[in-house]
Amino acid sequence: MKTILITGCSSGYGREIACHFHAKGWNVIATMRSPRRDLFPASDRLRVIALDVTDAESIALALELAGPIDVLVNNAGVGLFGALEHSPMPKIRDVYATNTLGTIAMTQAVIPQMRARGSGTIVNITSSATLASFPLAAAYTGSKTAIQGFTGSLAHELAPLGIVVKLVEPGYGPTTAFAQNTDIRLEDVLPEPYGSYAAPILAAMAEPALFTTEADVAKAVWQAVHDQTGRPHFPAGADAIALVA
Ligand SMILES: NC(=O)c1ccc[n+]([C@@H]2O[C@H](COP(=O)([O-])OP(=O)(O)OC[C@H]3O[C@@H](n4cnc5c(N)ncnc54)[C@H](OP(=O)(O)O)[C@@H]3O)[C@@H](O)[C@H]2O)c1
Repeated sequence: MKTILITGCSSGYGREIACHFHAKGWNVIATMRSPRRDLFPASDRLRVIALDVTDAESIALALELAGPIDVLVNNAGVGLFGALEHSPMPKIRDVYATNTLGTIAMTQAVIPQMRARGSGTIVNITSSATLASFPLAAAYTGSKTAIQGFTGSLAHELAPLGIVVKLVEPGYGPTTAFAQNTDIRLEDVLPEPYGSYAAPILAAMAEPALFTTEADVAKAVWQAVHDQTGRPHFPAGADAIALVA
């Protein structure tokens, strides 16, 4: 039975990926900063382990407790919406520490065990923001676009070792905790003249014509993990798929 470890499983896409793989019979290690076993069905195939992807000691301890893993999903991420001019630099550093450096650190930490076994899969969750340019998301888009480039290059050097690296690019998911998981107030990052510019964008986001569900992302990760064709990109959700088309 294969084992998958997913980061950022306290809500949204990560929690659904964990439930999906568990329902399909996998061993699942659902990680999150503050462990909540009650978020998942009782099962001896599902373990919850504390993991903060910005903390090297936390990464080392979580991987030691986890034991051998076949698949790593780098899902943990934080958003930042607003005008770059008014986005606080400490917040921008947090976004890169989690979305970019957290993904790189987790990947680096699992390579030795996968190299020793000659097999393994790493799935990096980025965003449809890497497929087209969206306004008022410059810092966030940069943090995810860096992982697109990172993944493409890394896939070459790990392929001869039997390790596969894939990208899943979810679209806008209004039902996850993503928009709430921030202490930034919109009025602080969108003062005039940005406020007037942002008003129709915010109105459109409130009623998206196409969007992504948690199930869309879980299915795309499943597809990425089981793909045998060498396909590197897996857009997830109707809006992300429409962008690629
Ligand atoms: N929802 C969207 O519109 C959307 C669109 C495209 C891509 N994405 C990407 O999809 C992924 C999942 O987002 P989501 O929409 O499911 O949002 P979410 O519900 O807010 O989930 C994000 C998860 O990341 C965790 N996290 C944050 N910082 C962490 C850290 N330092 N270490 C470990 N875990 C951390 C959060 O856990 P805590 O409980 O500890 O905060 C939470 O479990 C993210 O990478 C996001 O960038 C989201």
